[in-house]
Amino acid sequence: MKRLATLLAMTASAALAADLKPTKDAGPYVPSPQSVVSDMLRYADVGANDFLIDLGSGDGRIVLTAAKVFGARGFGVDIKEDLVKRANEAAHNEGVAERVKFVKQDLFETDVSQATVVTMYLLPDTVNMLKDKFLRELKPGTRIVSHDYPLTGWIPDKYVQMDLEDKVQISGVTTTLIYLYIVPAKVAGRWEARMPPAISKQPASLTLKQQQVTRVSGSLRLDGRDVPLEEVKLRGDQITFRLAGHKGGFSGVVKDGAIEGTFDSGNNRTPWSASLRG
Ligand SMILES: C[S@@+](CC[C@H](N)C(=O)[O-])C[C@H]1O[C@@H](n2cnc3c(N)ncnc32)[C@H](O)[C@@H]1O
Repeated sequence: MKRLATLLAMTASAALAADLKPTKDAGPYVPSPQSVVSDMLRYADVGANDFLIDLGSGDGRIVLTAAKVFGARGFGVDIKEDLVKRANEAAHNEGVAERVKFVKQDLFETDVSQATVVTMYLLPDTVNMLKDKFLRELKPGTRIVSHDYPLTGWIPDKYVQMDLEDKVQISGVTTTLIYLYIVPAKVAGRWEARMPPAISKQPASLTLKQQQVTRVSGSLRLDGRDVPLEEVKLRGDQITFRLAGHKGGFSGVVKDGAIEGTFDSGNNRTPWSASLRG
């Protein structure tokens, strides 16, 4: 009985500690200028099939614009109750309440797995603290758009810099940056590749390495030697590369430990595939 009481006391204090865990302030409320909101959504190519999540949604303008102008669905989270209330009222008044909602919630505790687009305008250290979460929860191909601060070490798919007078009162300078990232598939490992017969008649070992998440290198073992891959590009689940010393290019789609693709020799196109071995 005494042990149970101790256990209950420990559980209760753990729960209390979790409740009392201070929410990290990821940035003060400063709205993105409306022109930046439009650019962020345009660069991410937001459309009616998208589900957008704004982390730290403020007055809701990014999610509201995504719904009103681009036909998307989604939600925003913010720790400030008054902002969440204001954003939900705006969704109602602007006729998009069926497609978007706003929730008072810590962005670090928010499940983002439903997103096809994630947007944020947060402090630089916060943006970087989210990288592991993004890789864990987001599907390959999901677009991440960050206003002003980069995901350090990730190569942006698009990067735009502009000067905006509106920003002077926010950050003291006119400089405005928008970073677009595409969540890459996980490709690192050893693959058994079935190459076009012109390259190899036998299954060949393809090794892919993934540094800094988006930077991929690798080699294909042919006739006892490792032939390096060149110009390897990984965009979401789409991979392309060339084989050193060979004409033509490979493209493929990565899905569930397999790659299905096409080799374009310049004269004809033949299929190739690979499966992950470890
Ligand atoms: C710079 S504002 C961006 C507002 C909006 N996304 C925009 O671009 O107009 C950052 C917002 O993040 C919210 N925020 C800060 N820390 C947060 C946290 N841990 N969880 C959820 N929201 C947070 C703030 O209340 C603020 O509204």
